[in-house]
Amino acid sequence: MSDEKESGPGSGQYSHLLDEIVGVGDAVLLSTLTEDAFVANLKKRYEAKEIYTYIGNVVVSVNPYKKLKLYSPELMNEYRSRNLFELPPHIYAVADDAYRSMRDHNRDQCIIISGESGAGKTEASKIIMQYVAVVSEKGKDVDQVKKQLLQSNPVLEAFGNAKTNRNDNSSRFGKYMDLEFDFQGNPVGGVITNYLLEKSRVVRQAKGERNFHIFYLLLSCDNEKLLNDLNLVPEPTSYNFLKNDSPPSVNDDDKKEFQLTLNAMNVVGFSDDDVCVVFQLIASILHLGNVAFESVSRPNGIEGCKLAKSTTTNSFSDACALLRADKNRLQKSFTLKKVETRWETVEKSLTKAEAAYVRDALCKAIYDRLFNWLVQRINSSIKIKGKTKKKIIGVLDIYGFEVFDTNSFEQFIINYCNEKLQQVFIELTLRCEQDEYVREGIEWEHVDYFDNSVICDLVDNPKTGVLTLLDDDCLRPGNPTDLAFLRKLNQKCISHAHYESRASRNLLGQHSLGQDCFRLLHYAGKVTYSVNGFLDKNKDFLYRDLSQAMYSCDHPLLKTLFPEGTKKHINYIIQANDDDDDDAPTAFEPSNRIDPALPCDPEHPSLKRPPTAGFQFKASVGELMKNLMAKNPNYIRCIKPNERKQALVFDESLILHQVRYLGLMENVKVRRAGFAYRHQYDQMLMRYKMLGGPKTWPKWVGHPKEGVRHLLKTLGVKKGEYAFGRTKIFIRNPATLFDLEDRRRAKMHDLATLIQKVFKGWLQWRQYQEMRYAATVIASVWKGYQDRTRYNSLRNASIVMQSVWRGWLARREYRAIIFEIRASWAVGIIAKFYYGWKVRKEYRKKFRAIAGPKVIRYLRKYIRYRFLTRLADNLPSKAPFDRKWPPCNPYFQEASSSLREIHHRWRCKLYRERFKTNPALKLVYVEKLQASQTFNGKKASYAESVSQPFRGDYVGLKNDRAWNELAASLNETRVVWADLVMKVNRTNGKTVQRILVITTQSFFVLDARSLRLFYRVSLAHLARVSVSQLADDFFVFHVTKEEAAKKGDYIFQNHHVVEIVTKTRRAVLALSKRNLAVQIANKFEANLGNSPVLVQFSPGGSEPLPAPVCKRRGQQLDILV
Ligand SMILES: Nc1ncnc2c1ncn2[C@@H]1O[C@H](COP(=O)(O)OP(=O)(O)OP(=O)(O)O)[C@@H](O)[C@H]1O
Ligand SMILES: [Mg+2]
Repeated sequence: MSDEKESGPGSGQYSHLLDEIVGVGDAVLLSTLTEDAFVANLKKRYEAKEIYTYIGNVVVSVNPYKKLKLYSPELMNEYRSRNLFELPPHIYAVADDAYRSMRDHNRDQCIIISGESGAGKTEASKIIMQYVAVVSEKGKDVDQVKKQLLQSNPVLEAFGNAKTNRNDNSSRFGKYMDLEFDFQGNPVGGVITNYLLEKSRVVRQAKGERNFHIFYLLLSCDNEKLLNDLNLVPEPTSYNFLKNDSPPSVNDDDKKEFQLTLNAMNVVGFSDDDVCVVFQLIASILHLGNVAFESVSRPNGIEGCKLAKSTTTNSFSDACALLRADKNRLQKSFTLKKVETRWETVEKSLTKAEAAYVRDALCKAIYDRLFNWLVQRINSSIKIKGKTKKKIIGVLDIYGFEVFDTNSFEQFIINYCNEKLQQVFIELTLRCEQDEYVREGIEWEHVDYFDNSVICDLVDNPKTGVLTLLDDDCLRPGNPTDLAFLRKLNQKCISHAHYESRASRNLLGQHSLGQDCFRLLHYAGKVTYSVNGFLDKNKDFLYRDLSQAMYSCDHPLLKTLFPEGTKKHINYIIQANDDDDDDAPTAFEPSNRIDPALPCDPEHPSLKRPPTAGFQFKASVGELMKNLMAKNPNYIRCIKPNERKQALVFDESLILHQVRYLGLMENVKVRRAGFAYRHQYDQMLMRYKMLGGPKTWPKWVGHPKEGVRHLLKTLGVKKGEYAFGRTKIFIRNPATLFDLEDRRRAKMHDLATLIQKVFKGWLQWRQYQEMRYAATVIASVWKGYQDRTRYNSLRNASIVMQSVWRGWLARREYRAIIFEIRASWAVGIIAKFYYGWKVRKEYRKKFRAIAGPKVIRYLRKYIRYRFLTRLADNLPSKAPFDRKWPPCNPYFQEASSSLREIHHRWRCKLYRERFKTNPALKLVYVEKLQASQTFNGKKASYAESVSQPFRGDYVGLKNDRAWNELAASLNETRVVWADLVMKVNRTNGKTVQRILVITTQSFFVLDARSLRLFYRVSLAHLARVSVSQLADDFFVFHVTKEEAAKKGDYIFQNHHVVEIVTKTRRAVLALSKRNLAVQIANKFEANLGNSPVLVQFSPGGSEPLPAPVCKRRGQQLDILV
């Protein structure tokens, strides 16, 4: 590439500043300090494509109007964390210095970029932002913030920049952007403040200039659908607002730029819908621009106007469609004005010119408010998320000083702003610095400079300043005019050295200055302003009906942009106007003016009259200046090399002019004579104390000034290199400072190593302590466990040993006791034997005669006694049937038998005596005895019946009324036995339930339920009773022949066979004194219906049947049981 740099920053090889071969990198080092030498140095460097030159820490940048290979991420890394003067001059170095100062010293920074229009301010600001983005840390969130911050530029440039005669991409608004960082120096957000947009450009541009870029970008886009939706044709000449006296140059890059803008909007957080509504408003402005009016004469002779049919009906409809506006209402608000007085509202026709004015005012208002809305949207996207403590780098890129053939209110405002910026520069670099030397008692020769505060005062003096006079005229009752304002200006300012007009004495005859013009001698040169439009532009009021019409539109953005269109607010305005001025309002009186910084809240309208544009601008610039002064400033002074925007063309006179008015020479002088660096003693000591040996590190004891003196002496800094002020140390050369910094950096490495060493040592120590503690814990647990185990085993062992030992002892003792017992027993025995033997021996001779019979007598007595006592103890029970008797010695057999007999009789007697007192019991026993005599050993079921008491009346007949009546009627006295029985049918052997009642005279067969009498047979006719030998329940009552002739014998089944037979026998005996015969056999005859039948019982099988089966077969009745 022929036009790229071969050496210097672009070449990738960097030398120290002092080694720079092209001219002098820092103008402070120029051997002869004259304007010519300064400009010649700039030229030399510029021609070598070295566009940056330092004056101390201020960068002078000469616009190359050409892309140089000066900017790349690699180069940014070269400049990263390097001292300002280490590498050739570059914006990167200033950006890095600001960034590090912000990050490391916690000082908020601002980078003030100044220069006239086209000098390269905007480009410089972008370079700074790119640098900060590259050198800060990376990370998902941080990258997103960086992207958004960077991409806010293309959006704002598309909407806020335009081609002017001085600059193809001229910023038509002021921008101050706060880049916000966290404590690590990572960008976390930002805030953009915008200053007054040159909105008049929307409707009118100077010859050769263009409208705002966005109009052309939109028309150049490839998206046919979008253009169709917006009813646009891709021809800028089709739109009045884009036509110009000279045809607008359509930029080839517009198409590309449009795409970039869309992408940027997307990154910054605009949704597709947002983009769409923005373009709808842009397109509607273009359509409204094509709306023309034609005059009509009203019947009352007053001139009015209406929409010019031929050209504009379509454009008007398109605009209404895009704004979603009511056509009639909008048309009315263009052609009529509502005059509201205290009592009535009247409509007045507008002339054609007035209608065009209203249309333009609306278009300007829409664009201006849309731009403010865009800035707010971007701000809401890039605003800091969460509550982090932030540090700031502010980048100021404001419209540059400009002079056109015709300069209006906008240029006046822009140039005023530049005056103020120049003042900040003068304040901070020239005045403050020099004042500081004097204050600190440093020997100093004063450097003269031009202080532009007189010009600032001319413009913004609160009493006589141009802006104040302008505001006075705007707010004055009546119909103030621009010329009246000029006259007033002439009155008040004519004597000012920086003010000129035709009224000035020296210019009275000069025609170069128009009648409607005044001239200000700015720091950067003379600028002639035409007062035409000053009042209107300063008032910046929008016709009230238009605000209402816009508010009533259905377009989603318009309600936000025109909040004052609500009724409530209108009322307030009317009231305010009425109070102020009896002549008001006119059609051009305010409805309101919306300021972006002071958003209008329709719910809470302020009672103050809306401030003018000039007033607001002055206030916001004042705020800005305060803000800049509060931060550490870094300067980039941009210089425009020629007026033709030509690459690498160096117009010496133009540059000399800029060098003069920018005060660069004074800057060099102050810098050269002064000191590059200063620091308060304590801060200086704090920063470099590690270099001063043990006296200053870690702490200096004594006054900081002495500490610094000691420090510099220790470091061997030459005497002329520094000076001691009252509170600060001043260091002359940056090289000295760099040297200090280098030494500090090297020392910091050592300190870092020391800190690391201590920290690592501490870390290891802590780890060791933790491990030691852990080991102790483990050891204590393990030892505890071990000891417990050992203790338990010892304890168990000792218990075992103890038990064995105690057992042995106990056994030994036991054995001894046993032995003792046995021994004592044996002693007793032996003693007895011995004494026996002894006695026997002694009495042997007498024994046979005396003791023998005595002993035998005694023994016999004793044996008898023992027999009887044992018998008495072991006597059997008193039950007579108990056959037990204790055994006895055969010697007492006879006595035992006798005693047994006596005992049995005695207990029988006792038994019998019980019957005497209880006859019923006796009867029971008698009956049981009789039953025994009859059945014992004969019938199998007898044994079972023995234990069962004979109850007799099992059905409770005695208490039954029916029975008692029946018995009374039959003279029956007592029931012997009664119960439910099964009566066997004589003919088929089947059984049926009946009640059998045996009384003292008869037996009855009754119905089981009703007690109906079936049979009554006198006991006298009962011949005998038959039962089987088996364990069944059947019994047969055989009746006498005469009785049998009636029915025959009766066969019943009942569980109480033994009792029935016994009781029946007793009843028969009592009645007829005869023993009723009882036949116990398994086979016998019975008379069943006049014929003898063989009744045969047989067992059903090995197992008893669940119920006996009774069957008659001819003359045989088989009963299986
Ligand atoms: N460092 C640079 N390298 C290459 N070209 C540059 C550089 N700086 C500026 N230019 C060129 O100069 C033109 C004008 O620069 P810029 O828009 O930054 O001026 P400005 O000072 O912002 O002007 P204004 O006050 O009108 O906004 C740019 O469009 C670009 O073509
Ligand atoms: Mg700019």
